[in-house]
Amino acid sequence: MTEQQSAPPLIETVSIGKSYGGVVALCDVSTVVNAGQVTCVLGDNGAGKSTLIKILSGVHQHDSGQLRIEGRELRLSSPRAALDLGIATVYQDLAVVPLMSVWRNFVLGSEPVKRYGPLELLDRRQAQDIARKGLADMGIDIPDLEQPVGTLSGGQRQCVAIARAVHYGAQVLILDEPTAALGVKQAGVVLRYVVQARDRGLGVVLITHNPHHAYPVGDRFLLLKRGSALGSYEKSEIDLTELTRLMAGGAELEALQHELERVVP
Ligand SMILES: Nc1ncnc2c1ncn2[C@@H]1O[C@H](COP(=O)(O)OP(=O)(O)OP(=O)(O)O)[C@@H](O)[C@H]1O
Ligand SMILES: [Mg+2]
Repeated sequence: MTEQQSAPPLIETVSIGKSYGGVVALCDVSTVVNAGQVTCVLGDNGAGKSTLIKILSGVHQHDSGQLRIEGRELRLSSPRAALDLGIATVYQDLAVVPLMSVWRNFVLGSEPVKRYGPLELLDRRQAQDIARKGLADMGIDIPDLEQPVGTLSGGQRQCVAIARAVHYGAQVLILDEPTAALGVKQAGVVLRYVVQARDRGLGVVLITHNPHHAYPVGDRFLLLKRGSALGSYEKSEIDLTELTRLMAGGAELEALQHELERVVP
């Protein structure tokens, strides 16, 4: 075995579980995130997708099972702790501050500074250069970096957030429904950057409702339903038709169709 093959996964969950008071949000879920691969998490509303990624990103802690980061069992006490281990999370809306310019958002939290004696001031020129280079490296074209991020399209916003995570050296990139609010074309653009991040060796966790978005880019598919794993498949083990059928609930959907036919003849 080569060293690469024997390296532990970037992230591994083993029978992980989490309850909120009496509500079991996640139960006995196992999956892996490998470098240079995309793990897709699919499931309907309330399936436990966000709960899972909140555990991986340090927002919540699991209360059963194990979380292993590069083979070490641990518990992430905060989003900062996750970030320090190279786990970056991009949320649908919270990734960026809408009124700030693109470049200012790009360096948010890692601002370059100029010193004037005891004073430390944001180095605007350097910050703009960092943003320009980070976006260009990923081939993302945003002509005006002074533009407030809130005026970008949803797809562009996701792209800026992905480029920022890659630029600041994330090892794991977690994307919570990055394509949910996007049209077909913009979703395609975002998925292209998901592939780029993967090709740069990051482990990507992609949460989505849409098997058509997950299948072309995913290496592994974890299906959640009411907090439990409905299945976990390598790409070679499942095709798009079957993934779609499982997502739609198979037999449940057929029953619903019959019911609708009765109600709406
Ligand atoms: N902070 C919380 N307090 C109590 N219950 C919660 C909390 N967060 C989630 N839940 C419950 O846990 C379950 C899983 O929720 P979760 O947000 O993980 O689902 P999801 O798959 O992300 O759904 P969606 O597709 O709607 O985003 C749901 O039943 C939800 O009501
Ligand atoms: Mg969610």
